[in-house]
Amino acid sequence: MEKEQAMLCFQEAFGANAEDLFTAAGRINVIGEHVDYCGGKVFPAALNLRCNIYGRKTNGNTIRLAFRGIDGVVELDLDKLDSYRQLKIGNYQAGVAYFMQQKGVKLVACDLYYDCTVPFGSGLSSSAAIEVATAIALYEYAGVAYDKVEVALLSQKAENEYAGVNCGIMDQFASAMGKKDHAVLLDCTTLEYEYVPLKLGEYCLVVANCNKPHNLVESKYNVRRQEVETALTAIQAVKPIKNLAELTPEEFAEVKYLLSGVVEKRAEHVVMECARVKKAVEALKAGDLAELGKLLNESHYSLCELYEVTGKELDTLSALARKEADCLGSRMIGAGFGGCTISIVKKSAVEGFVRRVGTAYAEAIGYKASFYETSIEDGVTVSKL
Ligand code: GLA
Repeated sequence: MEKEQAMLCFQEAFGANAEDLFTAAGRINVIGEHVDYCGGKVFPAALNLRCNIYGRKTNGNTIRLAFRGIDGVVELDLDKLDSYRQLKIGNYQAGVAYFMQQKGVKLVACDLYYDCTVPFGSGLSSSAAIEVATAIALYEYAGVAYDKVEVALLSQKAENEYAGVNCGIMDQFASAMGKKDHAVLLDCTTLEYEYVPLKLGEYCLVVANCNKPHNLVESKYNVRRQEVETALTAIQAVKPIKNLAELTPEEFAEVKYLLSGVVEKRAEHVVMECARVKKAVEALKAGDLAELGKLLNESHYSLCELYEVTGKELDTLSALARKEADCLGSRMIGAGFGGCTISIVKKSAVEGFVRRVGTAYAEAIGYKASFYETSIEDGVTVSKL
């Protein structure tokens, strides 16, 4: 949506002009899937697909929210922020506001219009983008200095404890801390991070949405978390580790006998994926894109066979990508069960890639995939209108 149009919508919803624009990014993850909540390293990057908030400070005691494509205004009373957990729309915002207040931030009334270009339920972290952008807007209006890592942690807390999704820190961190043309190598145990240039030469990343209808992703996600927790507890009986990610593949082989069934498979994915992240970052730094592509493929196979979070739509989409001569690798990203893939594709071949993969996918699955034009951008922006 164009800025002018969004500002008109703001006018219509609130009867006044927007004064500020706050944005936070959706994200991709190059590699390191389902390891953030096991203390592993992840390698995400912030996108041009974003949650844009048009805002103005007001008087009174209410945060008013309006949304592109949705009629009406949602009102959050600053004295009752604990009471909006059941909202279908506005609960992420209420959660962020609630935990800011708990931290002692004196929130002020404001009007916020949401124009989110991160597709919902796509695995590109629209929820993190909404949380982070909301936190930035509320901090700015409260006139309180903030640290973006704190914003990420607070946003994660809102998602965990207010919206009830037990996510790790990756999405909110990428959304708040992303940097143009870089991926963020984040250690999810210490929150130490390093920006690595996402230099792909004559290649680029193609992001494709399999468009599978959103179906119980949150509850399936929470089950995976329990399974790796079970694995960790079993291993801790013989080895003093805090996180599964601490185990090398060799160390895992020695303690594997303690696990069985799906719990063993889940833990194996985590350990091997952590090893792949290390190799992938080395390959990228060395300009070895063929190796990076191979690691992306291995990550997908592991998410399919060991972690079992792919499904036929994501498997089909990434397999079709892999069949393309000018594609070096492809994998699902995010929580899975639907959502997006990334593929490393030669820039000159993108058009044909999208056409052929798109057609074959629609034939196999019965509905179309969506392909996005993406670029890697800064995580958050704040500007006057
Ligand atoms: C979701 C969660 C993240 C992470 C990924 C899987 O996006 O929000 O914290 O666990 O799934 O890597």
